[in-house]
Amino acid sequence: MKTYVVTGGTDGIGKALALEYLERGQEVLVVGRSAEKGEAWLDAARERDAAGRAHFVHADLSLMAETRAAIDGIRSSFARIDALVLCARHFRTTRLVTAEGLENTFAHFYLSRFLFSHHLADLLEAADTPVILNVAGPGGGGEIHWEDLELALEYDGQRALAQGGRLNDLLGVGFAAERPGTNVRYVLLNPGVVSTSFSGQYSPNVAAQIDAMRQSAQSVEEAIVPILKVLDAPPAALLSAFVRGEPLSPHGPGFEVEEARRLHEHTARLLGQ
Ligand SMILES: NC(=O)c1ccc[n+]([C@@H]2O[C@H](COP(=O)([O-])OP(=O)(O)OC[C@H]3O[C@@H](n4cnc5c(N)ncnc54)[C@H](OP(=O)(O)O)[C@@H]3O)[C@@H](O)[C@H]2O)c1
Repeated sequence: MKTYVVTGGTDGIGKALALEYLERGQEVLVVGRSAEKGEAWLDAARERDAAGRAHFVHADLSLMAETRAAIDGIRSSFARIDALVLCARHFRTTRLVTAEGLENTFAHFYLSRFLFSHHLADLLEAADTPVILNVAGPGGGGEIHWEDLELALEYDGQRALAQGGRLNDLLGVGFAAERPGTNVRYVLLNPGVVSTSFSGQYSPNVAAQIDAMRQSAQSVEEAIVPILKVLDAPPAALLSAFVRGEPLSPHGPGFEVEEARRLHEHTARLLGQ
């Protein structure tokens, strides 16, 4: 039996992947911030007679204290993780600063993924073909505001998300660079436009755009087909990237090792590591 950890697994793509692996007889732990949705996940497991293999960790991943507590909980429950799937994402039209003083998108979409990736790496390394699947936006071409990563000067929700995609690309590059000899495959994956819950706080204008996008978006069931292929047979390369199932080179512009190192150092300092 394999062990899957899925952040943001209470809705959208993460939820569909969590249910799929539960139905296949695997052990699945979902991390989410809604206790109600967590209960719904556990109910779904009970309906499938799989309660013993389904776990829920309640955590708001925009808070690093809760992210670290979730990781500690996972570390005390498992000696090995086969797949870590990073799906938590919440759009904010208006800038929100968390109780820890961090900009919300930067915190949950990038920093918590950094902690999950690096602080569960040894448990992943104990598996035969471990994989970290970071579902974000490789190839998105967002700009990194090096002097203002938390966009205090000029916040825009789309810009925060696009920058987050770039930071996650560099997280993947940095993970491979920082862990020579690792057996963990880091996969950056952009699913394309998918009709999900689009967790977020939207202005009426942006909400209308999301509704319009939903009309032509893929269904979650369609979107997970290429994702399952990657999870079931992780690429041999330590770092790879996909956009809607098509490979994208993780060695071109946007994936520079020097930038990844710079970001890694900055992040480690910020997190007090
Ligand atoms: N859908 C698309 O068109 C699309 C396109 C490109 C990339 N992606 C990427 O695909 C991934 C999954 O997206 P999706 O559309 O399936 O997402 P979704 O339906 O919006 O679900 C996001 C999940 O993340 C959880 N979450 C949000 N903020 C959280 C926090 N602070 N702490 C813990 N959990 C939190 C949500 O919980 P709540 O329900 O409680 O908020 C929900 O379970 C994301 O990384 C996204 O960037 C999606």
